[in-house]
Amino acid sequence: MGRVRTGVLISGRGSNMSALIEAAKNDAFPAEIVVVLANNIDAPGLNAAREAGVKNAGIISSSFPDRQSFDRVLDESLRTANVSLVCLAGYMQILSPWFVGRWLGKLINIHPSLLPAYRGLHTHRKAIADGARIHGCTTHFVTPELDAGPIIMQAAVAVAPSDTEASLAARVLEQEHVIYPRTLALVASGLARLKDGRCVLDGMGEPRGSIISPSI
Ligand code: GAR
Repeated sequence: MGRVRTGVLISGRGSNMSALIEAAKNDAFPAEIVVVLANNIDAPGLNAAREAGVKNAGIISSSFPDRQSFDRVLDESLRTANVSLVCLAGYMQILSPWFVGRWLGKLINIHPSLLPAYRGLHTHRKAIADGARIHGCTTHFVTPELDAGPIIMQAAVAVAPSDTEASLAARVLEQEHVIYPRTLALVASGLARLKDGRCVLDGMGEPRGSIISPSI
């Protein structure tokens, strides 16, 4: 069976996109990144994508009367590129229910918190303000409700008393780069899939270990 043709949507830096492209350079990886699209002309990730060898990397212009018109062009571009999976990687524009419905079960996202905690923006700031001892990141199938779709993978990091928003964000980002490629591999190989509003996982072992913070 061929590798699953995958598109990545970005709005900015694109470090998660780069982690996906890097993982997919291995021929044994079950997905290949064939197109990167940005909604933002300044997205530095577009250059990174081209430098990493993704020829089909471009911007969807933002001159549309409403979100669905924009999403129709986005949808058309993805279908023209013949993709079967779409990864949101720091894509900061809310997708229309129409688009989400069309790609349901084929559309995944990474979010910088242990969902369902801290949906939306400024997740690291909120975790620090709450005095959370453990924070992290989540990959999930996208559903119309923001940051609320069925969870695929999570990684936790301990929050240090000295953490700033930036230091915590950097440690969480490292884990994002670990779980996003693994998530894409699980979904592309069919081991993780959306069924009846849940993420079903096949062939996984029992979880081992735990994270305790502060560790004493
Ligand atoms: C990442 O931390 C990602 O989890 C977050 O934006 C950042 C993008 O960085 N996404 C969201 O907050 C979506 N709700 P990147 O462009 O370097 O991958």
